[in-house]
Amino acid sequence: MTETVEIFEVGPRDGLQNEKRLIPTAEKIALVDLLSRAGFRRIEVASFVSPKWVPQMADSAEVLAGITRAAGISYAALTPNLRGYEGAKAARADEIAVFASASEGFSKANLNCTIAESIARFLPILEAAKADGIPVRGYISCVTDCPFDGPTPPGAVATLAERLIGLGCYEVSLGDTIGKATPETLSTMLTAVTGVVPGAQLAGHYHDTGGRACDNIEASLGYGLRVFDAAVGGLGGCPYAPGAQGNVATEAALDRLHSLGFSTGLDRALILSAAELARSMRAAQ
Ligand code: HMG
Ligand code: MG
Repeated sequence: MTETVEIFEVGPRDGLQNEKRLIPTAEKIALVDLLSRAGFRRIEVASFVSPKWVPQMADSAEVLAGITRAAGISYAALTPNLRGYEGAKAARADEIAVFASASEGFSKANLNCTIAESIARFLPILEAAKADGIPVRGYISCVTDCPFDGPTPPGAVATLAERLIGLGCYEVSLGDTIGKATPETLSTMLTAVTGVVPGAQLAGHYHDTGGRACDNIEASLGYGLRVFDAAVGGLGGCPYAPGAQGNVATEAALDRLHSLGFSTGLDRALILSAAELARSMRAAQ
């Protein structure tokens, strides 16, 4: 039987958060509804962050209220603090994600606090989510390189990943935020991280700035990772990481995984339609 690798679609959040044009809520809903028919188990659709920091995500509650939820799909939202968590819960996000950085420079730029302070903010979120029965995913940004601090020590990523799992995150997604990782630097990092957290609890979240995201996915498979984040049409970037470009395109990740003999359970024709829709949303700006 073919082994399955899951693609976690993050286009409606990571893909769109960086777009300059304020995309109308109805367009975001149309994209999510199309993606909901393509076979994903998880789709990240919202982000309950400060609208002063990321104006594009200000209508997250409306997006969650407007989508047609398909059975069996978990609709996810980012939450940087307890206020964000309360917003995500009220909007009935099926799961939430806390996001930390392995480098202090990016932590400051993205969350306006140190790594330790960000963890302290996550504690009440994890406590509340546990009581509410809402699964929490953890992100770590800058797992190999930081736009402010340079190369990230692999040990820092391992320590943070272990901490996030210890706090109750069910999975940690490893972000190559600026797309600078190579299969070599990534492998060094994954050797450290899988020494403390099994590959089955890790996901790869690779931006494609350097054009190596698919190679990095391939390298990660050897470390037991079976979940990869991607965005249809390769949209995206992080407004607080200078030079960061889009996530690996879902269609490119899918083609690479299929060529390696893995199944994804995704409908390629629908993914291509969604990629076209996503690109047209960008082109309209
Ligand atoms: P701050 O300015 O230090 O804190 O921001 P604050 O408490 O003073 O809040 C600023 C304002 O936002 C205040 O409003 C708060 O009330 C409000 P004011 O009093 O000035 O009118 N506020 C909120 N509003 C709505 N929802 C909230 C919320 N919290 C505060 N939850 C803060 C600290 C964490 C809020 C800010 O830094 C922030 O929102 N950062 C998020 C940045 C972000 O979303 N980045 C992109 C996502 S991460 C990413 O893309 C990486 C990832 O893809 C992985 C990878 O690729 O590496 C996940
Ligand atoms: Mg990202």
